[in-house]
Amino acid sequence: MIIAVDGPTASGKGTIAKALAAHFGLPHLDTGLLYRAVGRQVFLSDGDPDKPEDALAATSFPDALLDDPHLRDEETGGLASRVSVHPAVRQALYERQRSFAMQEGGAVLDGRDIGTVIAPEAAAKLFVTASVEARAQRRFLEMRERGVHVTLLEIQDDLRRRDARDRSRAVAPLVPASDAMVIDTSALDREEAIAAAIDAVKSRLE
Ligand code: DC
Repeated sequence: MIIAVDGPTASGKGTIAKALAAHFGLPHLDTGLLYRAVGRQVFLSDGDPDKPEDALAATSFPDALLDDPHLRDEETGGLASRVSVHPAVRQALYERQRSFAMQEGGAVLDGRDIGTVIAPEAAAKLFVTASVEARAQRRFLEMRERGVHVTLLEIQDDLRRRDARDRSRAVAPLVPASDAMVIDTSALDREEAIAAAIDAVKSRLE
């Protein structure tokens, strides 16, 4: 069984995907991490994330980079959003995601285009969303805990910029699959969001 979980940054899709994987006993892949690794590799090799050839070269990042704590940084998220615009980068990462999705027994993948491009045949597709204000507030608390100094307004601006780029790109833009179930987590806490997601997947499997 393949479960596809798509949605914008800080919507709660990662938390939901992990919880679904634990609940249904499936392996989980956070595909955003692959794009973050490409963004980080461009930075480490002094490349330009907006240049398709530099971004493509960075797709051969070493596997060890996936454990780099800097992948979680806001700067790396911004770089990931920029490199993910290039069709050649998406193509280069396709096979890795596709084979993860197709493994025996199934998998949970979260990202932007899992239900539309990577695994259009997924048994259940969720599109997890939340207002910019709610997402910024969560990110703000998370960053404060990590000791990063940034204002709520700065986070909101950054989220809006990234949403616009992810939604308007020509290839695999961030849009819900036509058969996706939309979960708005703006007014839900962690446990409520997870419960809503499990219910949604169960209803699709019945
Ligand atoms: O989910 P995230 O914030 O870790 O993703 C970082 C960036 O990677 C996001 O702005 C767009 C890109 N991305 C993508 O284009 N397709 C995916 N399946 C996952 C992430």
